[in-house]
Amino acid sequence: MHKHHRALGLASTPVGNPVADIAKSRPAQPVTLLRPHAARRAARFFVEKFPGRSLYAVKANPSPALLKILWDSGVTHYDVASIGEIRLVHETLPEAVLCFMHPVKAEEAISEAYFSHGVKTFSLDTLEELEKIVRATSTDGKPASDLNLLVRLQVNNEHAKLSLGAKFGAQPADVKALLFAARQASDALGICFHVGSQAMAPTAYAEAMGRVRDAIVDAAVTVDIVDVGGGFPSTYPGMEPPPLEAYFDVIHSTFEALPISYSAELWCEPGRALCAEYASLLVRVEKRRGNELYINDGAYGALFDAAHIGWRYPVRLVSERGAKVRPMDFSFYGPTCDDLDRMAGPFQLPADVDTGDYIEIGMLGAYGCAMRTAFNGFGAERTEVVDDEPMATLYGETQHSNVVRL
Ligand SMILES: Cc1ncc(COP(=O)(O)O)c(C=O)c1O
Repeated sequence: MHKHHRALGLASTPVGNPVADIAKSRPAQPVTLLRPHAARRAARFFVEKFPGRSLYAVKANPSPALLKILWDSGVTHYDVASIGEIRLVHETLPEAVLCFMHPVKAEEAISEAYFSHGVKTFSLDTLEELEKIVRATSTDGKPASDLNLLVRLQVNNEHAKLSLGAKFGAQPADVKALLFAARQASDALGICFHVGSQAMAPTAYAEAMGRVRDAIVDAAVTVDIVDVGGGFPSTYPGMEPPPLEAYFDVIHSTFEALPISYSAELWCEPGRALCAEYASLLVRVEKRRGNELYINDGAYGALFDAAHIGWRYPVRLVSERGAKVRPMDFSFYGPTCDDLDRMAGPFQLPADVDTGDYIEIGMLGAYGCAMRTAFNGFGAERTEVVDDEPMATLYGETQHSNVVRL
């Protein structure tokens, strides 16, 4: 393991860094850098400190290598949203418990999930979806008796950087009838919600738990599972959240105050928080035009969110030059022919960055690597495992510097 100084501004990491070693080979294609230790640390954190069960939301990064790391670190339950994710996780981790948490599913997908992959847990937000689940899991017209059904509530997403509030979730006026009907069809009944991704304030969960409480009181049903969804943040430039323990404390206290039995279970489904630190990308500057850098990955690669929702990621120059040059703000163009392939940033790098330089773009383990395409023939094919620290972390000391010496 290489040791790095905690550093800000113009500091540089010591010579001998594993990322620098890769850059020295002057790769012509982007390189995905994986940090298994960072995913392991995040998983252990949730397994040990979340006051209930932590499911991994596979959509954030479905890489089989990552799934195995999480499994080995104690994550036994997985939130899957499609039959493709179900097949993948079932094949990669045959003993994992899969929960089909997309509220709008194809009937064929529900049947295959239940009969071929042993999936018993489904979410829903309408009576129509409930009927579909019951139909798809019946045998010779006889309804299944082993279903765990979670009714998804619509909750406020205003504390999150990325709203998931418009599309799914039952409205208050419909919840009572839905809970009642789901109770009749289920072995275990649950309530779930999603406060939106990258929720910046723990109070998001307190407010949503208020909705859960109202729903339970109104419907007067026994609830066996409360699933607070994902939304746990990671750390990015301009988005430094409170510690995760503050989220866990709020969730624990509001869960304890719910009118539910002692045996009721508390679940969460983090995606981003478990894998953001797992991967970064080493890109090369192919051209500089003023404060615009043309790099060899972009909107159709791992930088979809940087291009389309202006997400900012930490960056650092990997260069033989020192760290003496003042930083300035850059935007990036990706390698495809589209104007849309632009990441506005701003990304702060030493002012003398130029063609041929390498840049590491950090925190791409969640919704970065997972979303890339091979459009226009570009994209990262090479993957390297490195053992240095990620460019930012919620699970220890941050050691961000904007230059790595070759
Ligand atoms: C149902 C569900 N659970 C969990 C997640 C993971 O959310 P996050 O990555 O914000 O933790 C998502 C993300 O879209 C989701 O839709």
